[in-house]
Amino acid sequence: MTTHERFLLMGGELSDQLAAFARDVSAGLSASPKRLDCRYFYDADGSHLFEAICRLPEYYLTRAEQEILLTRTTEILATCPPNLTLVELGSGSASKTRVLIEALLQRQGRLRYVPVDISRAALEQSSRALLRDYDTLQIVAIAAEYQDGLQQLSSVIEGPRLILWLGSNVGNFERAAASEFLRQIRRWMMPSDRLLVGIDLRKSRAVLEAAYDDAQGVTAQFNLNLLARINRELGGHFDLQGFRHRATYDEQAGCVQMYLESVREQTVLIDRLGLTVCFSAGEAIHTENSYKYSFAEIERLAEAAGLRLEGQWLDTQQQFSENMFAPAAPANAA
Ligand code: TRP
Repeated sequence: MTTHERFLLMGGELSDQLAAFARDVSAGLSASPKRLDCRYFYDADGSHLFEAICRLPEYYLTRAEQEILLTRTTEILATCPPNLTLVELGSGSASKTRVLIEALLQRQGRLRYVPVDISRAALEQSSRALLRDYDTLQIVAIAAEYQDGLQQLSSVIEGPRLILWLGSNVGNFERAAASEFLRQIRRWMMPSDRLLVGIDLRKSRAVLEAAYDDAQGVTAQFNLNLLARINRELGGHFDLQGFRHRATYDEQAGCVQMYLESVREQTVLIDRLGLTVCFSAGEAIHTENSYKYSFAEIERLAEAAGLRLEGQWLDTQQQFSENMFAPAAPANAA
């Protein structure tokens, strides 16, 4: 089959995305304290900047996860039934997924891969590259947010599934929301389905704050791209020099909190929203949380979600964890 015949992309119409962006920016910048939703980081520029973050010396997460996936593939897949469909939430460039795709292709000859991502551009690019490299791979890509994506998934999948949720994306949810979302996934899982979740571990403030505020300023640029995106898509007039990236670790909460801080008192117009936003000097827009987990917190997360921890793997420096979950009880009991 040609590359074209092995590829289907659903969702992510531009007009819907723009309407949601406009609505959420308007609500977030009118709220007190001000906030912008982290899902909007990933436009084309933002996705590229995030790829650059993953290569930074300070951002250990991607390398640690890659190491686990590379060295423990066989063990990880041994916990799963044969003839899997591979689903991935927040697939991005899917570069870490390749090792699993290759191992599954070896094991079962052909594979259907279903990446779900907010960025249609990232899905198109990553899928094209994967299809070129693996000629028995079939891809059904879903451009959607997690919740909507999960709903569309049921229609395209049969047989046992391995669901990937890598990159510590679970950490971008509040702890209660994380277990609620996992519970939703769990409700959708059949008894033979498995869920592999990459979770970053609690560690020292110095390591964490450097990971989210690197020396080259790539992370700052990534955060500021939110304002640049408002300028591009909504006719905003943000002066990017007027805002500063800030990342602080709240040790008790186990959470790195990211902000864009106004360096002076200023007023910003956003033409397409008909909105004027006033900032005092030092006022912050909250843009993202990144929660870190202890082993006990991972156990609690699983329990609250109705999942059973079937396997756990760490990198050699013990910075990051890969966790295999199975439904704790028959699916219809939830
Ligand atoms: N999921 C990533 C994480 O929590 C996202 C991320 C990495 C991020 N660096 C960032 C978000 C900097 C905002 C700012 O690690």
